[in-house]
Amino acid sequence: MSGSALFETFARAPLAFDHGEGTWLVTDKGERYLDFAGGIAVNSLGHSHPHLVAALTEQAGKLWHVSNLYEIPQQRRLGERLADATFADKVFFTNSGAEALECAIKTARRYQFVKGHPERFRVITFEGAFHGRTLATIAAGGQYKYLEGFGPKVEGFDQVGFDDIDAAEKAITSETAAILIEPVQGEGGIRPVPTQSLKRLRQLCDQHGLLLIFDEVQCGIGRTGKLFAHEWTGVTPDIMAIAKGIGGGFPMGACLATDEAAVGMTAGVHGTTFGGNPLAMAVGNAVLDVVLEDGFLEDVQRKALLLKQGLAGVADEFPDVIEGIRGTGLMLGLKCVMPNTKVNMALRDQHFLAVPAGDNVIRLLPPLTVTDAEISEALDRIRAGAKGLADAIAAAAAK
Ligand SMILES: Cc1ncc(COP(=O)(O)O)c(C=O)c1O
Repeated sequence: MSGSALFETFARAPLAFDHGEGTWLVTDKGERYLDFAGGIAVNSLGHSHPHLVAALTEQAGKLWHVSNLYEIPQQRRLGERLADATFADKVFFTNSGAEALECAIKTARRYQFVKGHPERFRVITFEGAFHGRTLATIAAGGQYKYLEGFGPKVEGFDQVGFDDIDAAEKAITSETAAILIEPVQGEGGIRPVPTQSLKRLRQLCDQHGLLLIFDEVQCGIGRTGKLFAHEWTGVTPDIMAIAKGIGGGFPMGACLATDEAAVGMTAGVHGTTFGGNPLAMAVGNAVLDVVLEDGFLEDVQRKALLLKQGLAGVADEFPDVIEGIRGTGLMLGLKCVMPNTKVNMALRDQHFLAVPAGDNVIRLLPPLTVTDAEISEALDRIRAGAKGLADAIAAAAAK
């Protein structure tokens, strides 16, 4: 018991931050931490980005909330900008990633329903997936640790092995509505899905009348150096869930779809009180202003290479601590030899923040605005943390 009035659902680090400046978080005692956790891929433009602060405060002075019973011009604008920049024609705004996934799953099921296939409601997902914490999205993710104790698993999700496209093909039945996949698994341990596999999934969906849903909640909004990770592969989905980075720290998400895929989402079949409210839309538009600026994503790609090369050097230096580097863009993972929680603590001791993930990986998700100097500083801190652990291993072995 922590003695606090809060649910004990989070194993919190004993750290409280007072404010943030770009890639840095500052505690109430004035200690500075280099933030490569980024609120788990949320702070896409770092902390207190002046353009986001201005957009939010300007909107806060005008209008916080109106219901979706009325026109919300900022929402219309952000929807159009997202559609212009992607495969999508239609957008539904939500407050979180899980709600964006709920909307994506509902959109796929309604599509099959209005196309005369109410029996098609099942969704194929992949081992290691994470799609959120609602009852449906824990069923989609299929991880026992998130399902245990919450009653019967929501019906309609069939899971196959990570990147096992043959198994996905075998899992298709007359009840299948869609295939749902993260192009780069985040929580599952920074595992990019090979281009060839996404191409085969696209073919399977086309062949069987299924919808392809991408979950880009973590890997989207410039994280991999393209606006969306799937752009590297040339494969487009029918539906896509996004969140995290689009709000830069303001809670929001969205479900994007083609006109065809969204055909069943007619007036009254789905809704939200807060989704797409003026505050969220002001920030979402401001994030896009920056991410879509000429040269911004190219610079993310350049910095990502710098970081990845540096990390490979650190892994070579400390093979007893870091087994290898994986991932793409500014979504990189350190595959650890010892438990990742221990490595994470050693990094925290260096005032460096990262996030543990599945498959014994430490995730690095710095803001897309990270500077070259901060990358170099990060490498120094990771090296120092790894050296401390390697020295401890050597000392224990010498005993
Ligand atoms: C890929 C992916 N999908 C969905 C979610 C759920 O998003 P939220 O926590 O905003 O509901 C997450 C959150 O980590 C995620 O990484």
